[in-house]
Amino acid sequence: MREVAVIGIGQTKIDEHWDKSLRELAGFAVLDAVKDAGLNQVDALYVGNMMSSSANHQSQLGAYIADWVGLRYAESFKLESACSSGAAAFRTALLAVASGAIDTAVALGVEKMTDSPGNEITAELATAADADWEITQGISFVALNALIMRRYMYEYGWTKTDFAPFSINAHANGVHNPNARFRKAITEKQYLDAGMVADPINLMDASPVGDGAAAVVMVPLEKIGTSSAYPVVKIIGSSAATDSMAVHDRKDPLWLRAAEISSRKAYNQAGIGPDDIDLFELHDAFSIMAALSLEASGFADRGTGPKLALAGEIHPGGKIPIATRGGLKARGHPVGATGMYQLVEVVEQLRHQATGTQVENARIGMAQNIGGSGSNIITHILQRV
Ligand code: COA
Repeated sequence: MREVAVIGIGQTKIDEHWDKSLRELAGFAVLDAVKDAGLNQVDALYVGNMMSSSANHQSQLGAYIADWVGLRYAESFKLESACSSGAAAFRTALLAVASGAIDTAVALGVEKMTDSPGNEITAELATAADADWEITQGISFVALNALIMRRYMYEYGWTKTDFAPFSINAHANGVHNPNARFRKAITEKQYLDAGMVADPINLMDASPVGDGAAAVVMVPLEKIGTSSAYPVVKIIGSSAATDSMAVHDRKDPLWLRAAEISSRKAYNQAGIGPDDIDLFELHDAFSIMAALSLEASGFADRGTGPKLALAGEIHPGGKIPIATRGGLKARGHPVGATGMYQLVEVVEQLRHQATGTQVENARIGMAQNIGGSGSNIITHILQRV
């Protein structure tokens, strides 16, 4: 397999883009990434997206977007694994380039959620859960995560206040990210006073829906000349793992086994461990998910995720910075695009372009994208060359 590098990144601001179509949003990110890479043509486009068929009445995103961005006749198709669709597109592009089948690939994540009424989007998000055993009970995705959080608080004795630092850190970092949906810092009091969505998850524990697109350009490392405009960032670990669809089918519903497996495989490929990671863009769709990801990926012992946050170790200057550009909580969570935003942000950090929240001397960054309630998890590790 060939070594693969990311040489271009592009992204739109996450917002309610009522004046732009799905293909326009995608086009901005792809063309930005291709321009950033200093190219004018690529061989293939892989699109991560969860709900275009229902929310936008558009499937076939491969041909739909390839044609729009001037890639008619190129190989292109859509990858779907719920909220980890973005990382699925990234991994597919990586495998295509690494294998030698494709020389220049774009990985794109795009989602447009805010044209649909909230109740329809809530129902569409629930399709990431098990239709036979979970959705038939009328449960929403927020409610499913609320059950997990309630159980976690009961088992390990954490209080609601103990989760505040996750949201406070994400919002503080989002202030510095021009592409974030929310650019407003919050206090512990604002966290605690926020309206309840599904007890114990309140508005400040939950990521917001949104519209957005993010993309990268990948090439074989050996083909990069010495005149690259930016520091080169190569991919040193990539792994995906699944778990049961339904949370109740797991031996331990408080342990993200797929995150453990995919991060361990990615560490092994990279020849490193958690102590070598300078920043971790994790999947904080809900604050409980941030705690569980830190634990399963080896940054905290079982049941102790909130301790790292309470000790201030998740800030850009801490031991393991997370959500450095706002995370899902403040940057926003346009579901199928999120994995690509995480990877674009890791590249920004490794290029030392993360104004306002730059992790000092960042050299190795990890991104982890979760589909469903932990049922499809994809981890990538990138390194500044
Ligand atoms: N955090 C902070 N503020 C938020 C927010 C969030 N997650 N979501 C919405 N807001 C703000 C809006 O900006 C708006 O503020 P304004 O009145 O000052 O303009 C206000 O809250 C109401 O916004 P609205 O869009 O009507 O919210 P809503 O009640 O329809 O939706 C949630 C809020 C939390 C229910 C919705 O964002 C949600 O379902 N999130 C979870 C999505 C999900 O499950 N994703 C998959 C996870 S893997």
